[in-house]
Amino acid sequence: MPAGYPHQNSVVFMLETDICGLRLENPTILASGILGNVGSSLRRVARAGAGAVVTKSIGKQAREGYKNPTVIKIEQGYLNAIGLANPGVDDFGEEIKTAKEGGVPVIGSIFGFSVREFVSVAGKMEDHGVDALELNLSCPNVGKAGAFFSTTEELTYEVVKAVKDSVSIPVIAKLTANTGDIVAIAKACERAGCDAVTAINTLKAMKIDIVAGMPVLGNKIGGLSGPCIKPVAVASVYEIVKETGLPVIGCGGVTTGEDAVEFLMAGARAVQIGVGVADRGIGIFRKVAGEIEEFMKDHGYRSLEELIGAAQG
Ligand SMILES: Cc1cc2nc3c(=O)[nH]c(=O)nc-3n(C[C@H](O)[C@H](O)[C@H](O)COP(=O)(O)O)c2cc1C
Repeated sequence: MPAGYPHQNSVVFMLETDICGLRLENPTILASGILGNVGSSLRRVARAGAGAVVTKSIGKQAREGYKNPTVIKIEQGYLNAIGLANPGVDDFGEEIKTAKEGGVPVIGSIFGFSVREFVSVAGKMEDHGVDALELNLSCPNVGKAGAFFSTTEELTYEVVKAVKDSVSIPVIAKLTANTGDIVAIAKACERAGCDAVTAINTLKAMKIDIVAGMPVLGNKIGGLSGPCIKPVAVASVYEIVKETGLPVIGCGGVTTGEDAVEFLMAGARAVQIGVGVADRGIGIFRKVAGEIEEFMKDHGYRSLEELIGAAQG
């Protein structure tokens, strides 16, 4: 054991982090929509070493989503267009109960097509017992000509403030980089009293089958995930941390401990892992945590706090 690690216990607590009142044993979190449809999968991921888990985005009513194919692998990552398929919030209580048996914080991801719908689903998820809410703002507001919540400061402020005023658990806003200025959107979240932000959701993208002469995804256009979006995500985290006082969760392209270290050095307090699970299995959380710890030991970082924001200068 290198100098600076006097006893084994300091290593056990080395990876602990907290984000808006949630205590995580390590900074890896299952991202929304990845194995998060049922409680037993979330419980399995928690037991496999994730520091926290996020549910699939849940809305007011059950939705079937788009037609197949909904997820495809491309050279640089994955494309998906699920269409917010979900069982509806009223039937999700048992799943949350099961997920909580995993023993780590359960973050309920929610969406709505209006501010009122967000507030209604938020209250029900709180009643189901989630530890925090993550607002999936990458969905259209039906009342405002289909404008996406997360692409305008006004809509973002309105929905975050309304949810914050209606629940007593922490509220995290998940932001997209498909906007002119993600920092301005983060500042709107901060003004609305948001407790933290997750950066980033998928980026709008398309794959064309050149033999068939048509888009591959059933919905034609989808969201891009995986290693190819990591530099965009890291830059978003870096700028939000620099320009706001918000705690940030990094998301986009984390497959290894070194990827996670980049996000932490940019200032993230934790990272979410999505399609990395497809590449390394559910053991990825324990592996990434172990790799972060190894990096810290090799480079003389004694606590996660020393690592967080190290590249902010
Ligand atoms: C199949 C699939 C389903 C997803 N469903 C959701 C969802 O319901 N809500 C949400 O906020 N993000 C959803 N996402 C986005 C992920 O949570 C994550 O933001 C994105 O994949 C980037 O992280 P990654 O590169 O680690 O996968 C989904 C992604 C994929 C691949």
